[in-house]
Amino acid sequence: MKYIIGNWKANKSVDEVGKWVTEFTEAYQSDTQVQSLINSNLVRIIVCPSFAHLSLVQPLSSLQGISVGSQSISAQKPGSHTGEVTGEHLQGLAEFAIIGHSERRAEAHEDDQIAAEQVKRAQESSITPILCIRGQEDQIPSGTPIVAFEPVSAIGTGSNMPVDEVLDQKNQCALPDEAAFLYGGSVKPDTAGTYLQSSEIDGLLIGGASLDPASFLAIVRTVSSS
Ligand code: PGA
Repeated sequence: MKYIIGNWKANKSVDEVGKWVTEFTEAYQSDTQVQSLINSNLVRIIVCPSFAHLSLVQPLSSLQGISVGSQSISAQKPGSHTGEVTGEHLQGLAEFAIIGHSERRAEAHEDDQIAAEQVKRAQESSITPILCIRGQEDQIPSGTPIVAFEPVSAIGTGSNMPVDEVLDQKNQCALPDEAAFLYGGSVKPDTAGTYLQSSEIDGLLIGGASLDPASFLAIVRTVSSS
């Protein structure tokens, strides 16, 4: 089973989210190749909008094989933390949470210690953490179920890292046993298949190419049906 995760980052208005959900749902339901992958349990699709739009995308979570995720989660427990979005807030709205994305590490100063707290908070709320690492310099808490390797040089640059280099990097990371290993960074429909063909790569984290429902579904179609 491969994860195909769409990270919309700080994109889309309320209207654009509604349009994406409508277009994606129609295309997903009428795509026999995608339906066969879903029915065979070969792919799990996760859509991660901004916190503000989590409730707008809920109709997606009633479709087979599709879940909703958040792009972050507070390291705090509920209480006096103005502006924080806690695990409790997310319960019922997100089954997964992206944690430690390099943009959060750079812009919101989230370090390994904060990321470890966020992983803990997610798990306490029965939300599955998807921990992003930039490379072997970022620590992976034990028990982290999904790790997404996203080299900064590849994010949003058009320079996706070749599969052999991704696998070299994987070997140097202290991955917990049983953790799923994902790649992210400038993956497009024409390059997705090269990663997904590898039994060593359990899925993809997609930024730019997830903003358009057609290109996101085109990536889902590259999951091998065998
Ligand atoms: P990108 O983003 O696909 O636009 O490079 C990936 C990510 O940052 O998760």
